[in-house]
Amino acid sequence: MCFPLKFKPKFNFKSITIPEISIQSKEDFIFHINKNTPFILNVDLSQNLSVISKDIEKVDNDCLINTYDSIPYSEIREGYFLDYLNYVFSDSCEKKYPKNFNLIEKREGYDSNEEFRHYALSLNQDMFPSISNFKIPFLSDENYLLQLTQTFFKENNITSPHWLFIHPKYSVSNAHYDHDCVHTVIFQIKGSKKIYLVSPEFHEYIRNVNFPLLPNGFNDFTDEKLENLPTENLSVWEGDLNENQLIFIPKKWVHFVVGITSGISYSQDIVLKDNFNEWMDSIFSKRVI
Ligand SMILES: [Fe+2]
Repeated sequence: MCFPLKFKPKFNFKSITIPEISIQSKEDFIFHINKNTPFILNVDLSQNLSVISKDIEKVDNDCLINTYDSIPYSEIREGYFLDYLNYVFSDSCEKKYPKNFNLIEKREGYDSNEEFRHYALSLNQDMFPSISNFKIPFLSDENYLLQLTQTFFKENNITSPHWLFIHPKYSVSNAHYDHDCVHTVIFQIKGSKKIYLVSPEFHEYIRNVNFPLLPNGFNDFTDEKLENLPTENLSVWEGDLNENQLIFIPKKWVHFVVGITSGISYSQDIVLKDNFNEWMDSIFSKRVI
């Protein structure tokens, strides 16, 4: 699907198409996960959409949310969820943030020519309780994180595995990888996203300090200066994630994601046998007695 050149990565790379595969069993799913490469599956997510739509209707009119200029998070705004929904699902792509959303925080020292559209990242199950029941087809309770209770996550200050993304068209999640060595599955419940993925073996190629960096230390993929980034050996996996598809993103794979349309995604963090020790190490290394 077409979208403006300004949102495409500007460096040269060898393109690998993220494969669309079919899966018949849990064993099959785990076999593909253990390859540590991304893949896309076709699934029926209509039930998830109907459940989320009911949750959205139940959100109070005075519910406040925060939005970020996607990633890099150089500014945070606050306003009513209803105004955010109007911003996401209206046809105009001109507005950078929803009406009546006030600036509440600005990150100093981040200097970019590009202003990305604001995006309510990582809405959680406190607002959308139904998402805590969402299960990945075939995998379901095999995900260790689904065996832990919400109380456990809260008491131990551990990130919950369930996230909802109601995203505007042309929102950008710039280059980053997810916390604590989790694998991730994203359900595209409504609309479409373009996804670019870089394997951990190439992290250093896209952390080049001679080119514009995001606050998280990775290069801003949209910056035109990256045409000169020395990336002749860099492989990037790319694909469209369309409605009624899910994508598996292995741990530490850098992702750069652009909303081709407005839409709704759900993502679930995954801990299995292969990343359990790394997840534990990451969580407990942050603890200060
Ligand atoms: Fe992510």
